[in-house]
Amino acid sequence: MPKNCLIVLGLMGLDLDSRNYFLIRGASEEDLLAVMNINRVCLPENYTYSFFETILKSFPKSFLVAEVNGKIAGYIMCRVERIFSKFQRFKIVKAGHVISIAVLPEYRRIGIAASIMKNAMKILRDEYGCSEIFLEVRISNTPAINLYEKLGFIKVDRIKGYYMDGEDAYLMARELTFLE
Ligand SMILES: CC(C)(COP(=O)(O)OP(=O)(O)OC[C@H]1O[C@@H](n2cnc3c(N)ncnc32)[C@H](O)[C@@H]1OP(=O)(O)O)[C@@H](O)C(=O)NCCC(=O)NCCS
Repeated sequence: MPKNCLIVLGLMGLDLDSRNYFLIRGASEEDLLAVMNINRVCLPENYTYSFFETILKSFPKSFLVAEVNGKIAGYIMCRVERIFSKFQRFKIVKAGHVISIAVLPEYRRIGIAASIMKNAMKILRDEYGCSEIFLEVRISNTPAINLYEKLGFIKVDRIKGYYMDGEDAYLMARELTFLE
């Protein structure tokens, strides 16, 4: 089992298809090219290698990958920021900002994103002392909005023209007090 392994998850499937087994672990520099590839395949918002590297160096514990049979199938990367609380007026809090999360198309709908997100939320709270988590999502991105709502996020704002192509974003957030 690779080092940094946080948790091994298996979904019970009648066919025992090996694609249904994945593990979530901390990312390392060797994973970054695979992560960049997933980012390019899945999202229009792409970043340079040095951006990924800087996030990994600055916030290594909340940069996670999901592995299926030794292949990187998904990732999440987060930044820790001091922001005005999305839930308590005029209070400054430490919050985790999800910069990017994606799962390769062939590994979707088996719970990878939900698991990677739950692990990131625990780490942001327990290792980085965050009391909230937030992110931006395209208003047309129903799969991602459903995922976040299922995990207890709520829409706290709508940001006009947030994306390069002019689409609005929902700002979604949740408190990290009670985690599953
Ligand atoms: C959004 C994304 C990360 C979800 O990954 P995933 O591993 O397939 O998600 P999960 O299997 O953990 O699904 C968890 C929940 O999310 C929601 N969801 C996921 N995909 C969905 C879809 N295609 N349609 C509707 N709801 C969906 C469901 O509520 C699902 O729970 P359910 O399977 O019990 O119904 C994936 O579709 C993806 O990489 N999309 C492109 C990149 C992206 O949009 N990233 C988010 C940017 S803000």
